[in-house]
Amino acid sequence: MIPEAFVQGTLAREGESATRWLTELPTIVEGLLSRWDCTRDGEVTHGRVGVIVPVQHARGPAVLKVSFPHPGNVHEPDAFVAWNGCGAVRLYERDDEQFAILLERAQPSTLGELGDGDEIAVAAGQLSRRLAIPAPGGLPRLADQADRWAEELRQGVVDFPGAVPKASVDTALAVVGELGRDQPDLLVHGDFHQRNILPSAREPWLAVDPKGCTGDPAYDGATFLKPRALALSSSADLTKALHHELDLYAGAAELDRERVRGWAHLQAVQAAFHGRRHGFGRARGGPELDRILALVDQLVVSWC
Ligand SMILES: Nc1ncnc2c1ncn2[C@@H]1O[C@H](COP(=O)(O)OP(=O)(O)O)[C@@H](O)[C@H]1O
Ligand SMILES: [Mg+2]
Repeated sequence: MIPEAFVQGTLAREGESATRWLTELPTIVEGLLSRWDCTRDGEVTHGRVGVIVPVQHARGPAVLKVSFPHPGNVHEPDAFVAWNGCGAVRLYERDDEQFAILLERAQPSTLGELGDGDEIAVAAGQLSRRLAIPAPGGLPRLADQADRWAEELRQGVVDFPGAVPKASVDTALAVVGELGRDQPDLLVHGDFHQRNILPSAREPWLAVDPKGCTGDPAYDGATFLKPRALALSSSADLTKALHHELDLYAGAAELDRERVRGWAHLQAVQAAFHGRRHGFGRARGGPELDRILALVDQLVVSWC
């Protein structure tokens, strides 16, 4: 029942300690399906951290998501509760102990599959505007990560000398100081990229897979723009294409463009160091990692 790629991906990321959870997963899924009166309705799929089981439920087509029990996956249902179906899929059931949620089913596609037209950045910006509501209590604050971000940037310079121009690291540190430490108390999605935005019949686009944090919604704009560099990589002028998307996104989200650009710059420098240290989910080594790192290095320059 559990896709082999999900098993291998989870073992590669979490190590052998994930074996027990993976072994128990089919029983966990069966137990939840029975408790929540669901019948299976299609192939099991998966993301990076969770399996997705399409089901039928009294409230309509739904999906059961069971995530790997990791602290980063704790607040997903809290964000769905706060949005209450406005801009995000509805939450029907939750079992926090099992890291399980039952969600309204969106359509089987993503915003990323629209291609490379202007409508992607506009749709994502409009959705971000809807999602930026007062944060519920108890979510982790992005501002509490600011000291760690600054420390990691300084360590990156030590461990990978010359990898990122000094002026770019200084700008990233300035962003941590100016935007990172004092942020609004708004609900931030936390993983707002185009594959976590799905079409639906109820609203044009609905968010899935939130981390759920408190902070500056412009942070989500940076998270959205980062992988857009991959989609736009064949543009004749990548910097121009990215700045065009930034304008569209910030306009639709009603956010200060310079704020989104600041976060985008910080996230690009973070990615340049992170990629050299750990690789990326898409590639841990080899020519594909080199290609992505070259793009990230271009991003760093583009946002300056
Ligand atoms: N509510 C939903 N309706 C339809 N498809 C969904 C829904 N939630 C997730 N999916 C599909 O499963 C994929 C992985 O789900 P996601 O919540 O992003 O998991 P992960 O946290 O592992 O990335 C999504 O990209 C999407 O294709
Ligand atoms: Mg996802």
